[in-house]
Amino acid sequence: MTAVVKSAAKRQVVAASAASSTVQFGADDVREMRAALLKWYETHKRDLPWRAARDPYRIWVSEVMLQQTRVAAVLEHYRLFLAAFPTVQALATASEPEVLALWSGLGYYRRARMLHHAAKMVAEELAGAMPRTAEELRALPGVGAYTAAAVASIAFGEPVAVVDGNVERVLARVAGWSAAEARFATRVGRFAGTLVDPERPGDFNQGMMELGATVCLPRAPLCLGCPWQPWCRTRGEHAVPARRAQQRQHSARVVWLRGTGMRQQVRLVQRAADASLMAGMWELPSYEAKAAESPEFTVRHAITVTNHIVDVYVRNGAVRGPESEWVPVSELSQRALTGLTRKVLRRVGCMP
Ligand code: ADE
Repeated sequence: MTAVVKSAAKRQVVAASAASSTVQFGADDVREMRAALLKWYETHKRDLPWRAARDPYRIWVSEVMLQQTRVAAVLEHYRLFLAAFPTVQALATASEPEVLALWSGLGYYRRARMLHHAAKMVAEELAGAMPRTAEELRALPGVGAYTAAAVASIAFGEPVAVVDGNVERVLARVAGWSAAEARFATRVGRFAGTLVDPERPGDFNQGMMELGATVCLPRAPLCLGCPWQPWCRTRGEHAVPARRAQQRQHSARVVWLRGTGMRQQVRLVQRAADASLMAGMWELPSYEAKAAESPEFTVRHAITVTNHIVDVYVRNGAVRGPESEWVPVSELSQRALTGLTRKVLRRVGCMP
């Protein structure tokens, strides 16, 4: 425990005015914080498939999938996506429906379109070689500061800091900033930049994200297991920005079926090409139930901040509709289905 006492005594906080205040730790503290985090990361890091390789393409795909999506939800999608598109060239030559079909269920489909678009640029204009710096990576479509820093540091060892929501919370707590103070992105970014380890920036950044995801939790953080407890100016729950209230939306969908066995078909409609969400993807037709009808079952499905509660009706036989199409159930897995559609079709046994 000597490290605790020693570091606490050495802690150096430089605070200026409230508006521009920034927290700096002395050089010795920063060195010790880096070492403590890297040691903790070595022993506690989760065994995740993208950590096995330094292939920038694989790391890029993982970081795009991990934006706004939990690790558990990414794992199987990541495996199937890389089995289908093992290289940037393979992704570049795929069709958009193929890419979206493998993204189906992850949500935020614009990410997949931009990744596909960027892969074409890398394949066609850069002879398949990924840019090696954060600055160059940012020139690719859909690659923002977060993804660029993650790929540059993890795959190429560039000492740039990654700041996602988890990292922001860790930094705010260590610095003792209020949630309002931590909203200043430049302040958080500058602080992150002073901490990132110049020798092992990829491990440092992943350690920060891992710490935020598994220890420095929004509620009831596990401070006793935290490598940065000696330096932390909050130690415990920290006021986090209030989440926007979840909206609820009720609607109804219908699974229209015809035929049997492998010849069975289901009626799907395609979302408009200019829809703001899930453009061009396929889904079940909406349904207006009569008062006497009751649904087969109800599913819940969250999309961004909306909780959808969907009554599902199942019908057999002929139906016509200009914008819909009969799709054989054997071809469903190759379609770019929305996550809700996939969930319902699995529930009724049309998909594995
Ligand atoms: N979240 C996003 N990318 C991550 C990574 N590489 N490690 C841990 N958590 C992450």
